Amino acid sequence: MEGPGGTIGTWYIMAPSIAIDTAMPIRKPVFDPPFNVVRASHVELAVRDLSRARGFYVDCLGYLVSAEEPDALYLRAVEERNHHSIVLRKGKAPEAHTIGFKVASEEDLDRATAWFKRRNLPTAFPELPHQGRTLRTADVTGMPLDFYFRMDQGERMLQRYAAHRGARIQRIDHINCFTPDVQASYDFYTELGFRLTEYTETDDVDPKLWAVWLHRKGNVHDLAFTNGRGPRLHHIGVWTAGPLDILHICDVMATSGYLANMERGPGRHGISNAFFLYVRDPDGHRVELFTSDYLTVDPDLEPLRWSLTDPQRQTLWGHPAPKSWFEQGSDFSSVPLREPVLEARPIVAR
Ligand SMILES: [Fe+2]
Repeated sequence: MEGPGGTIGTWYIMAPSIAIDTAMPIRKPVFDPPFNVVRASHVELAVRDLSRARGFYVDCLGYLVSAEEPDALYLRAVEERNHHSIVLRKGKAPEAHTIGFKVASEEDLDRATAWFKRRNLPTAFPELPHQGRTLRTADVTGMPLDFYFRMDQGERMLQRYAAHRGARIQRIDHINCFTPDVQASYDFYTELGFRLTEYTETDDVDPKLWAVWLHRKGNVHDLAFTNGRGPRLHHIGVWTAGPLDILHICDVMATSGYLANMERGPGRHGISNAFFLYVRDPDGHRVELFTSDYLTVDPDLEPLRWSLTDPQRQTLWGHPAPKSWFEQGSDFSSVPLREPVLEARPIVAR
């Protein structure tokens, strides 16, 4: 198989004493990537009404406001020292602008720039408020990516408990996107050092990847891809301290005019073991409240395989996800959409 960076080997998953003899489309992890991505950092979303979005993110979910400007709102969660993990920018259409990753140093930013240039992918350095030098580029599907090292720092709010509201969201956890080619996206980010923790594939003799969960920071994922028309943003996953915060926000949303914004859950995922609730903001952007996954730092951690036909993959308790969850997402501005190369369908509730 040939990937964007050259020949790709096939990785055979090893049980303690038995080599599984089925070749899978899974690659060996890259422990010396061309530059060091620390974690998923932020998303920038276009919303049509900043005041309405503020009501949802700040007054309901409990986000802290780091900066409020005529055309933008910069939000962070209670644990975050970085200035923002969600940027809401006033726009005509409810689109996603970019997804952001923090790298480990300015030198990593230089190395990232050289790497993307070598692959003939775009490299620009837009001036962005509240953060340092930022490389704006795109991945193999055209999905916009920002890499940066420095960001303005906010006051430490973790132990200002009286200021914690709503779901008491702690931090950004991950970003989940639709891709028209899961294998191509997986290959691309594996080269950048993202490591596979769990994956869904078809049950064919020649299995195909349908979804992948990839991490840099040491839990189940920083970035996940699901098969579908794309590239599109599926959701931003945000961490709560525990499942009770998620149950509490269900009660809050159900009694404060946001009942229809609750799309799926609460429940426990099979994949990642996390407790979850999916909500839609007033512009339809999806947010997953997420907690209680597990540590993945061991270099010999073997990725877990799930069958696309296993209902416990989606929800450990067995109930499938709604159709909207599989079909709807946020387009990236001006990025052409492609239909998925894989036609396999998951189990859908309604
Ligand atoms: Fe998620």
